[in-house]
Amino acid sequence: MFYTIVGTQWGDEGKGKIVDWLSSKADLVARFQGGNNAGHTIKVDKNVYKLNLLPSGIIRNKKCLIGNGVVLDPWALIREISNLREQKILIDKNNLFIAENVCLILPIHKLIDEVNEESRGDDLIGTTKKGIGPAYEDKIGRRAIRLCDLNDLKNLKLKIKNLYNFHKPRLDQFKKITDYEKTFTDLVKISEQISIFSSPVWKIINDAGKQNKFILFEGAQGSLLDIDFGTYPYVTSSNTSSGQIFSGTGFGIKENHNILGITKAYTTRVGSGPFATELNDEIGNHFVDKGQEFGTVTKRRRRCGWFDSVLVKQSIAINGITNIVLTKLDVLDDLKEIKVCIGYDDGNKKYNYLPFDEKLQKNLFPIYETLPGWQSSTYGLTSWNDLPKNAQNYISFLEKTIEKGISIISTGPDRIHTIDRNNLLSNS
Ligand code: GDP
Ligand code: IMO
Ligand code: MG
Repeated sequence: MFYTIVGTQWGDEGKGKIVDWLSSKADLVARFQGGNNAGHTIKVDKNVYKLNLLPSGIIRNKKCLIGNGVVLDPWALIREISNLREQKILIDKNNLFIAENVCLILPIHKLIDEVNEESRGDDLIGTTKKGIGPAYEDKIGRRAIRLCDLNDLKNLKLKIKNLYNFHKPRLDQFKKITDYEKTFTDLVKISEQISIFSSPVWKIINDAGKQNKFILFEGAQGSLLDIDFGTYPYVTSSNTSSGQIFSGTGFGIKENHNILGITKAYTTRVGSGPFATELNDEIGNHFVDKGQEFGTVTKRRRRCGWFDSVLVKQSIAINGITNIVLTKLDVLDDLKEIKVCIGYDDGNKKYNYLPFDEKLQKNLFPIYETLPGWQSSTYGLTSWNDLPKNAQNYISFLEKTIEKGISIISTGPDRIHTIDRNNLLSNS
């Protein structure tokens, strides 16, 4: 049984909660892209766990894999492991496996991330400044330092030197000081702590696939942040869509694959870029307050707006999504009316998809359908029949516009605040 979890919007859809919920049955949980730009919050009773790099299955002591498609900041990983151990989460070489060929984020990548943003003037991407983009650039440029390079310290030093020299002229222009020897000695100091997790992830995952184990692939970010299909250039530097699971882990088995698209009942985004249904009014503020829409990684206030069915429908196609999980329904509880975007208009032409032209994306006006709210609490509900009629109608309307069934509805941050409409969990 293979499940993939992907975000269908601009990230922060509640993927962590759903991975945690599904991972109760999983044998393996694998990350296949992104890095510690991700922030997945999981609430279990009174405990709140914040995960950036580690797959969310670690909370349930599942075997967790970090695939080669991830970019890994070793210092961030050590901090995350240490924080989770303080929360009594067990992490050792029996439950964490990191691909030998994963590329590392080094201090220089964070500097380049800063410089790249600085050189854009007012037109910022609004990155998390974790060095994600520059680390992927070095991977594609065939200069990156990989986890397996820690096995050969002599060559490692040379590789780091070459990498730093490559970037030096530009960093000098911005008066950023780099020191390859320091990076080398700092990396050597922690190399054993990281190398113990180094594994042939592609092999572990294919062996598990052959034995028909339950494998859960945990996506980070969302489809609108995908380097190819997102709102380029205001995107992250990886493919966030489900196709990436194969090249990001080495997994080669494609049958029996369920792809769950995690979708917020409204829309949010962190960082810059077009956002047709954004609300800069009291309703937008209400989403921020009630939905606690502040970034896990950067603590930035998330931009909020109405549900955009055009974007979600597009994400469903690109990811091959089999089921939608609708999260944060409870955040809409107090509203008298709820709008849903069903198309765009640029003044000349109507669109039923998001065109790629950057300028056009900024000038699309949403065409809305307005539905009545339910103005009663859905918080924590666990059964479809207990939902107010108008909440059921809202969900049915979304299903119609996105042309996909909504199988799971999340009504609160806790594991148990979940409506499993088709018994997806109990049947899997
Ligand atoms: P991710 O990046 O997709 O894993 O999402 P985040 O963890 O960054 O953001 C989702 C936030 O919403 C987290 O704080 C969750 O605890 C919370 N959350 C998830 N599902 C629900 C829900 O149904 N209702 C409410 N109120 N909060 C939720
Ligand atoms: P999760 O997994 C929301 C955004 C950043 C910025 C853009 C590029 O929690 O859903 P980067 O540092 O990746 O180069 O920044 O992508 N971004 C996210 N937004 N949720 C995330 O992850 C994100 N990861 C990156 O805000 O706009
Ligand atoms: Mg997040």
